[in-house]
Amino acid sequence: MNASKLALVAAMLGLSATAMVAHAQKTSTEAIEEYREMLQDGNPADLYEMKGEELWKKARGPKNASLERCDLGLGAGVTKGVFVQLPRYFPDTGKVQDLESRLVTCMSTLQGIDPKEVVNGQWGKGERASVTALATWVASQSKGMKFDLPQSHAQERTMYELGKRAFFQRGGSHDFACATCHGEDGKRIRLQDLPKLTGNPGDGVGFAAWPAYRVSNGQMWTMQHRLNDCYRQQRFPEPTWGSDITVALSVYMGVNAKGAKSTVPTIKR
Ligand code: HEC
Repeated sequence: MNASKLALVAAMLGLSATAMVAHAQKTSTEAIEEYREMLQDGNPADLYEMKGEELWKKARGPKNASLERCDLGLGAGVTKGVFVQLPRYFPDTGKVQDLESRLVTCMSTLQGIDPKEVVNGQWGKGERASVTALATWVASQSKGMKFDLPQSHAQERTMYELGKRAFFQRGGSHDFACATCHGEDGKRIRLQDLPKLTGNPGDGVGFAAWPAYRVSNGQMWTMQHRLNDCYRQQRFPEPTWGSDITVALSVYMGVNAKGAKSTVPTIKR
């Protein structure tokens, strides 16, 4: 992104704040839709994308290496098209991994960065922030491509079944499951339409929408962060970053989203 586009981002952010006030009379959904349209050419996610590309190419960590030989599923160094096929099974780790946990594997093996820095880190800080930027850039390389997660390996099918069970598992102080909020069409909480995630909710919705820039808190969120926050909404304990349950839920939602077009990185409330 060049300087004039950056200026445009800034201008649009200023402009849209005024616009939001002017539109206070309209329904929130309409206002949010307009806001998204206004920002289409100037999504602040662009900045994270740029940072991610830089981090991919930069020699870093104790081994002073770049990530350019990282295998995200379609061969060493391939970034185009990988996002719409993740999570998938990786023979070298013997695990089904999502984009973020796979990036951590590459950071660890190629650069010597300790995975604990991410797993035990804080959102938006340190190496966890690096993963967010990297995931945003890698995901952007599949813009417009259709989700088609592999289900040929037995572990990929097991993770789908595990994700499905987790999606419907009720518990916590409110006896909520993911399905309580995302199991039917037309549900809302406050301003938010809650997409139905047991099938394909449409292009750029649900699984096909994250990483996304969140206007409400000015942060870039990956799917790991999205899931963490939904577990909070469910009054469940916070899941461990990159844990099997988070990957399984992504497999479930990702397989369900087959055929949906990726519009990532998107912009959200
Ligand atoms: C108490 C209700 C509630 C529960 C339970 C819940 N969520 Fe959510 N979910 C939300 C809300 C509200 C949003 C939108 C938040 C926002 O944009 O501020 C959301 C957004 C999402 C999105 C992004 C949708 C999009 O199009 O941007 C995904 C994916 C998601 N949830 C998955 C899950 C999963 C998986 C679970 C179970 C672990 C879950 N949610 C449990 C309320 C819930």
